[in-house]
Amino acid sequence: MRHPASDPFRRKPIATLLQEMKGGERLHRVLGPVALTGLGVGATIGAGIYVLTGEVAHNYSGPSMMLSFLLAAVGCGFAALCYSELASMVPVAGSAYTYAYATLGELLAWVIGWDLVLEYAIGSAAVANGWSNYFVELLGQVFHVHLDPRLIASPWDYDVKDGVFFLNTIELATGERAVAWFNLPAVLITAAVTAVLVVGIRESAGFNAAMVLLNVAIILTIVGVGSAHVDPRHWRPFLHEQKGWSGVAEGAARIFFAYIGFDSISTHAEEARNPQRDLAIGILGSLLICAVLYVAVAAVLTGMVPYTDIDVRAPLATAFTRKGLTFAGGLITAGILAGLTSSLLVGNLSQPRILMAMARDGMLPEGFFAAVHPRFKTPWKSTLLVGAVVALASALAPLNFLADLVSVGTLFAFMIVCGAVMILRSTSPEIDRPFRVPALPVVATLGLLVNGGLMFYLGRDNWIRLVVWLVIGLLVYFGYSRYHTKLGRPAP
Ligand code: ALA
Repeated sequence: MRHPASDPFRRKPIATLLQEMKGGERLHRVLGPVALTGLGVGATIGAGIYVLTGEVAHNYSGPSMMLSFLLAAVGCGFAALCYSELASMVPVAGSAYTYAYATLGELLAWVIGWDLVLEYAIGSAAVANGWSNYFVELLGQVFHVHLDPRLIASPWDYDVKDGVFFLNTIELATGERAVAWFNLPAVLITAAVTAVLVVGIRESAGFNAAMVLLNVAIILTIVGVGSAHVDPRHWRPFLHEQKGWSGVAEGAARIFFAYIGFDSISTHAEEARNPQRDLAIGILGSLLICAVLYVAVAAVLTGMVPYTDIDVRAPLATAFTRKGLTFAGGLITAGILAGLTSSLLVGNLSQPRILMAMARDGMLPEGFFAAVHPRFKTPWKSTLLVGAVVALASALAPLNFLADLVSVGTLFAFMIVCGAVMILRSTSPEIDRPFRVPALPVVATLGLLVNGGLMFYLGRDNWIRLVVWLVIGLLVYFGYSRYHTKLGRPAP
């Protein structure tokens, strides 16, 4: 329903949020701390560690990628602590969007909700793209099947270093060169994951748990088997020869993508059995697990292959195959596909839940975005829409372009979360906080500085893209949402 324009700075009282949790069509409360941590790890481990490590080691950090991973983890750690406090005090679906509505007002809530589309939907598109790389690798390596190369790449590509776009021409079996059409495997995996998600959260969490176990097992195998083939001479020089120390920071900004996902647990508050306690456990636990695994993988990869020789398309599988470990290479490729699938699953699971939270507030059309399936109890219409957008983006855009866009959007969201938690401590000190960030002023300030610094290293082109995206969002807010939000209006 269209109303007079709302005040963009009004805030949604936390009591209202908690009240809303009690009524209406709600999602099933089935997730405990282990399932939540599993969802976090599942969302996090993906194209970042399996694909982008190649480019980051090769172009930015060399063996010091280990430090890049640590630096990115520190930025995430500050944000994770702040997320945990907010998730424990506002244990409702919608993640940073909902927290911002309660603390910073309607307009900023909209901005962050809109920004999270970059993190989740575009993030999933990037993962589907990485999935396609490894799938093609597996088909070729194990089954000796080779798809038409025009069906496995985006029609344009992007040179991150120089910020240049160009047509993606590839060599055909005939030896001729032609422009790629679109990425078919990325579309197919997105369609399959979307179908699973429409059917139910319990099925999704169960499927995810199996994938996560396999995935962690594969990473441990990579570290275990790979460490026997590490030659410490490859770690010297430790810094990238051309980039030096700035490569550590640039690498951290680019590999930051690998950590995105642990915060997605905050979108599942409505399905958590004990959100006030378990969300914090899930967020911090999954970040810690991933950070340890990532640094270990970085050490092994750069120790196995001189960083200048690392394959940027499928770095880990290739490192093993080149050492003659063909069987391990094939196994790793299969495991990586499982890991990427779970990452895709959680991204496509989280995005519709954020849209649903926004639609319930009237920011988006409720009949569509908040529709819960009568039998499956999932937000099925928005799940299908997100699936379509992810499929389209992954079909047509290259991975590195998508990954940087996701990172800049997420870093911005992390900064807002760090700011929000500080503001809320002084504006609403009375609210119960089952989890409190220790030394908050220090942690939140460092969170703002480190994540802001990583954003700086992503470069001007990415900030411009973020600004363009946010401006489109503001047009939607001022053209639609402002006249439809429900806060403070009499129920129809
Ligand atoms: N962190 C996720 C990945 O690396 C998005 O694929």
